Amino acid sequence: MANFNTVAGCFLASALFALVVGKVSNAVVDPHHLEKPALAVTDEAPAEAAAPAAVELAPIGPKLASAKVDHGKALFQQQCFTCHTIDKGGINKVGPNQWNLVGRKKASEPGFSYSSGMQAMGGSWTYEDINHMIFKPLAFVKGTKMAFAGLAKEQDRADVIAYLRTMNDSPPPLPEAGAAPAPAAAPEKK
Ligand code: HEC
Repeated sequence: MANFNTVAGCFLASALFALVVGKVSNAVVDPHHLEKPALAVTDEAPAEAAAPAAVELAPIGPKLASAKVDHGKALFQQQCFTCHTIDKGGINKVGPNQWNLVGRKKASEPGFSYSSGMQAMGGSWTYEDINHMIFKPLAFVKGTKMAFAGLAKEQDRADVIAYLRTMNDSPPPLPEAGAAPAPAAAPEKK
């Protein structure tokens, strides 16, 4: 009898142990428990990231003529160079090389693999589009791979864009301060 009890006790104890371990490891590794919070986070992120898209930015063009190229160069080296080279023929790093960026077709740097959101943009990089891109990349390009918080200060963005303009074979003309971007003689002006 004593033997039977010991054996039964052992059996019960190990059954209980297995039960407890099973519960605990379920709680730790159960993929369903992990899946939900992860989805909740990704569901919310785009909504929040998209919100700033509504923010209107004042045109940067009129501020470029008086922007400080040297400060823009320093900012570029601090903030952009980790991911972007800017010398002519420079390599693509985490982001594409930026020589000739102003006026360049969007998502067109050879050998760089752009996000689908970036590829879907179309058009070329104008001063104003670059302004939006470096203000809040995610608000400007859906799902962009450019993981950069953005330059909040307008003067900083103007300085960086003025610097980008100097790293170009033939930069588009600077918009005149206070004037429409198109030159007076432009035939397309209505
Ligand atoms: C953490 C890395 C990172 C930093 C920092 C960063 N970028 Fe980018 N950038 C990227 C990536 C990655 C892409 C490609 C985006 C895509 O495909 O969605 C990109 C794309 C761009 C583009 C579009 C280029 C094209 O060929 O169409 C511009 C413009 C740009 N970056 C400007 C800047 C500027 C200016 C700064 C600094 C103020 C900066 N980036 C900082 C990673 C970065």
